[in-house]
Amino acid sequence: MISRAKVGALQLDVDEIRRAYSSLLPVVRAERGQTALVDVKLPPEPWSPVEVAAVCLSAALEGRGRVRRPRDLEKAYESEFNRLIRQLEAFSILRRKLGVKLAPVEVIQADIMELDMEGEFDALLTSPPYIMTVDYVNEHRPSIVKLKLADSSQLESIEAKTIGLPSRVSAVELPESLLSYVKEAPSDVRRVVAAYASDVYRAFKRIRKTLKPGAKIAVAVGKNHRFSGKLVPTTAIVKKALEEAGYRITEVLEIKCPGLSAFKRGDWIECIILGERI
Ligand SMILES: C[S@@+](CC[C@H](N)C(=O)[O-])C[C@H]1O[C@@H](n2cnc3c(N)ncnc32)[C@H](O)[C@@H]1O
Repeated sequence: MISRAKVGALQLDVDEIRRAYSSLLPVVRAERGQTALVDVKLPPEPWSPVEVAAVCLSAALEGRGRVRRPRDLEKAYESEFNRLIRQLEAFSILRRKLGVKLAPVEVIQADIMELDMEGEFDALLTSPPYIMTVDYVNEHRPSIVKLKLADSSQLESIEAKTIGLPSRVSAVELPESLLSYVKEAPSDVRRVVAAYASDVYRAFKRIRKTLKPGAKIAVAVGKNHRFSGKLVPTTAIVKKALEEAGYRITEVLEIKCPGLSAFKRGDWIECIILGERI
């Protein structure tokens, strides 16, 4: 099943991984008849083969409801496994090349609009939500609940706070330059574009207060999104929101991501907006 898996980066034994996968299958259980989960908690790295298999199996089972037969599960598992290994390999190459050492991190779980943070940060590295493309709360519901980041009863209120949700649109006055993107948007998604533009603008203004002058920023976002046959220029909107919120943009990198089928037809282009806080 995972004979094609690349296991170099983790120095894992393919047979061991295969045995771990089989040992996990009995603990897979169905939830709500749709989603199935592995009942395993993730400890800190380094992970054992069983833990690696658990992560991949969880991801495979979460995989947008396509898992119907055992064969589908095996295929989804293999692809999740290879994806994890590719990511770890890319990360280890970067670490070697750049001499990056991992520092301790503190993860704060909060709505960016409510987060009352103090500090003088050197950099901002972020990626705002993909406008109307990914349902972050529901797609990640199994992981969120299983990793105890929130319980099921909290998910609705977390979802209501998602950036770009039209119901969240506030009375924030948008700068004229951003308003023009709203006016040009297809009429059926104008409210969504308005919510998105106003949320990212407000979020970046808020974040700016915690950054040192000259702090470097990198913001990843899809180049365009297509609605009703018309393009919404997401990167241009986010770039403008950043400029209006007090950042200087120095470069926009475009990265072609062929075959990212989650994002519909054609090659997906991901942009990285680079700049600094003024
Ligand atoms: C494109 S993803 C980026 C995730 C992660 N930074 C990464 O690069 O893998 C956008 C993330 O923004 C989160 N998000 C949406 N609205 C938010 C809000 N109001 N406050 C904080 N995070 C929010 C979503 O849950 C989602 O995880």
